[in-house]
Amino acid sequence: MQIRILPSLLAADFGHLADEARRAESAGADELHLDIMDAHLVPNLSMGPAVVAMADACVNIPLNVHLMMTNPDRYIAPFADAGATTILIHVEADCDVAATLAAIHARGIRAGVTVNPGTLAEKAFPYLAVSDELLCMTVEPGYGGQSFMPEVLPKIRELRDRANEIGKADLDIMVDGGINIETACACAAAGANSFVAGTFLYRSDDMPGLMTRMREIAQAALNM
Ligand code: DX5
Ligand code: ZN
Repeated sequence: MQIRILPSLLAADFGHLADEARRAESAGADELHLDIMDAHLVPNLSMGPAVVAMADACVNIPLNVHLMMTNPDRYIAPFADAGATTILIHVEADCDVAATLAAIHARGIRAGVTVNPGTLAEKAFPYLAVSDELLCMTVEPGYGGQSFMPEVLPKIRELRDRANEIGKADLDIMVDGGINIETACACAAAGANSFVAGTFLYRSDDMPGLMTRMREIAQAALNM
């Protein structure tokens, strides 16, 4: 299973977004994570398709777009057109999740579901077979810089076991919120292979060093 590290642009310096996107790429990021908030599913507003298009114009790594939106359906086309490589939606959204995943795939891009900390693993089970990625929130979504919620760890294991049972051992299981070396290690031990990190990576002056360390530690924990 491949380890992936995705810096979250939400924690970048918004005065220099293009440089910040390039900083993640040159530090060795596997993908760039972009958090889209609608002030409805989550209490905050963040960025729209124009920021994804900006990233598309200045980096060559995949763009992982996390739609925290109650009604994602009419935003699939704008984000796909802007250059998204993957679009993740929430199982808590007010949409036909399977149909929205199909609409994302119809654009020729990767699709996945996200589950909030309080949402049971079972809610995601019906979509594992049709998802390329599964995102487990390890904080309540809406803001960067929050503390990791260790109570989510058993759910990560449950989802990895279920993916194995249905013959999808290659499902990318991601975690997002409060991720640093220590919490990434705990998540990898529970079966996660992809790590979104905002504050920890962007607020450091050694993003490459932290990413290398995170990759080594997570790989070791995942292999145990
Ligand atoms: C939270 C977002 C995260 C956020 C993580 O709603 O989905 O991607 O950027 O930020 P940190 O790593 O600071 O917890
Ligand atoms: Zn996110």
